[in-house]
Amino acid sequence: MKHHKVECNFNVFESIEDLPKQIQKLMKFAQEARLKAYAPYSNFLVGAALELENGEFISGNNQENAAYPSGLCAERTAIFYAKSKWPNQAILRMAITAGSKLKTTNTPVPPCGSCRQVLVEYELQQELPIELYFMGSDGTIVHSNSVENILPWVFDKNML
Ligand code: THU
Repeated sequence: MKHHKVECNFNVFESIEDLPKQIQKLMKFAQEARLKAYAPYSNFLVGAALELENGEFISGNNQENAAYPSGLCAERTAIFYAKSKWPNQAILRMAITAGSKLKTTNTPVPPCGSCRQVLVEYELQQELPIELYFMGSDGTIVHSNSVENILPWVFDKNML
């Protein structure tokens, strides 16, 4: 038997003010989107904003449904819109903010597994890492240099 280890590296920023100016702008865009989320069932509001290489900022939020599985996460709402409108523009980075409508969420909220899988598809396709910045509704912000960093041992097209 041989033991293997996979590492995950990330940076933590204490507050939005500590982020580089351009990232602050992106996170504020995600915060605006979060407040427009349609989440009457979970009361958990999520906003995502991404920056494309042509300088466009795209945002999205979670859209829930009475038939629960028919809803969609904020990250995928934003990314599918961006890639349907600008299929050839690489995604440089994504900012995510999430938390309950009923209380302050200070814990950074990472994208769910399905959203990581969708993000990594485009990261591999564009051969350029997508930076991630994610936070709760308040508090610290986690920065990952790529999606693969938080989705090690990825399932990709080479396995088909
Ligand atoms: N949600 C997101 O929008 N993104 C994630 O990465 C995790 C979960 C949404 C889905 C649902 O509307 C609510 O948060 C509670 O799971």
